[in-house]
Amino acid sequence: MSDLLQLEDFTQAEGEMHRPTLVERKSVDYRAIAKNVGRIGVGKKYHIKTYGCQMNEHDTEIMAGMLEEMGYTAASNLEEADFILFNTCAVRENAEDKVFGEIGRIKPLKNRNPELILGLCGCMAQEEVVQQMVAKTYPWVDIVFGTHNLHRLPELIDRARHSQETIFEVWDKAGDVVENLPKLRKEGIKAWVNIQYGCNKFCTYCIVPYTRGRERSRLLEDVVAEVKELAAQGFKEITLLGQNVNDYGIDLKAYDFADLLAACNEVAGIERIRFTTSNPWNFTDKLIATIARCDKVVEHIHLPVQSGNNTILRRMNRGYTREFYLDLVKRIRQAIPNVSLTTDIIVGFPGETEEQFEDTLSLVEEVRFDGAFTFIYSPRAGTPATRFKQQVSEADQKRRLQRLIELQNRISREINDAMKGETVEVLVEGESKTNAEFLQGRTRTNKIVLFQGPKHLIGQLAQVTVTEPQTFYLKGKLVTSGEEMAV
Ligand code: SAH
Ligand code: SF4
Ligand code: F3S
Repeated sequence: MSDLLQLEDFTQAEGEMHRPTLVERKSVDYRAIAKNVGRIGVGKKYHIKTYGCQMNEHDTEIMAGMLEEMGYTAASNLEEADFILFNTCAVRENAEDKVFGEIGRIKPLKNRNPELILGLCGCMAQEEVVQQMVAKTYPWVDIVFGTHNLHRLPELIDRARHSQETIFEVWDKAGDVVENLPKLRKEGIKAWVNIQYGCNKFCTYCIVPYTRGRERSRLLEDVVAEVKELAAQGFKEITLLGQNVNDYGIDLKAYDFADLLAACNEVAGIERIRFTTSNPWNFTDKLIATIARCDKVVEHIHLPVQSGNNTILRRMNRGYTREFYLDLVKRIRQAIPNVSLTTDIIVGFPGETEEQFEDTLSLVEEVRFDGAFTFIYSPRAGTPATRFKQQVSEADQKRRLQRLIELQNRISREINDAMKGETVEVLVEGESKTNAEFLQGRTRTNKIVLFQGPKHLIGQLAQVTVTEPQTFYLKGKLVTSGEEMAV
């Protein structure tokens, strides 16, 4: 990997890619910077517990990849592990409380096995208050490292073997984008691919810009190379990951997210391309047209709205109005008629009145989302919203959440009911976890489908007729598989 983007190395071979302008942004190769600590994990086992978003899940795949290169193998439970790692989320307080509870429960294991190494990483580790808390209350944690330096895990474990004290290595700023990180992906059907790190939006309630730093895009050529490698390994579906995927490329000043989607769409072998999360802000007409045009890019957009009231949206610093959001939804639906839309909503933001909350309900009625992740506002230390007046009472927050969930569930059920009799394309992911008689997969619109069929369909596309729609999934009957059709 070049230290500076090499113009000479960049060809027009990937279809519509533009030549990038030279940017002072370094990508470094993991193999070149990782200190070789040797196979110090041979005969040892690891267990990683992951909280939070898909980005964290994917970071766990990277760290598992590093550990397996060191010789570690996965432990089936905490008790048999020689290295336990909590990859944490800081987005809401209850997630943090859970982690501290878990760290407390590990203490007896540490007492029993002094060789056991315990690590804390991820977004919580970036918070100074958490670092202080660990130092003061949980000194049996061996290593604390953040989101910007997870590539240093092998060296930190090596150091922890010889240290009695907690090792803190948290970078407050992101370094270079690290490429060629090892990854241990779970199954060979769906894969996550990072395209961008960090967030520049600073919504007033959100801790992510503080824990993940500023937006940094991976080079288009590096993303496409990874997607090609995944296709060669047999993966059928990729999900492009970033906190604001539609800001992809802004820092590189050479290409944008639509160009990246178009380039990924050319990769043979990949059947479906998903992306998350896109912000309503900067969701351009070019992007809408590209999603509509690219056959592999699915008809599902997760488009967090957060609130339906303009005063609240402004105080959240979301950068759009209710009217803008509704118009964007209209433009998306015009271009992609069968699109499924999901969202994130926060209730009980400081100062939210009953009328302002009603605006959120009416927006939900108007848009008719396929699904929504709904949250009670959780104050995060260091974010501006903690200083806003009139925090909403817990009772009101809970009541509002309940009303919102009931409304959304009714709408989800109505949308699903209307699919009865429709035949949908399902990427079969495996057996249902709750009932092994059924196979489970997803439609292009990201709806879960359960149906009975032969196991050899796992990893294939199947045609399924919806017979019994439910609120959170669809039950169906197998028509024919893509494989059988091809014969
Ligand atoms: N980048 C994404 C969101 C990432 S965080 C976006 O902007 O769309 C995922 C969701 O967590 C957010 O959409 C928001 O609904 C919720 N969230 C973030 N901070 C929160 C807080 N302090 N309290 C409650 N919910 C929060
Ligand atoms: Fe948080 Fe807003 Fe960034 Fe999303 S866009 S990660 S909600 S600051
Ligand atoms: Fe949580 Fe960090 Fe993701 S705060 S939601 S794990 S970016």
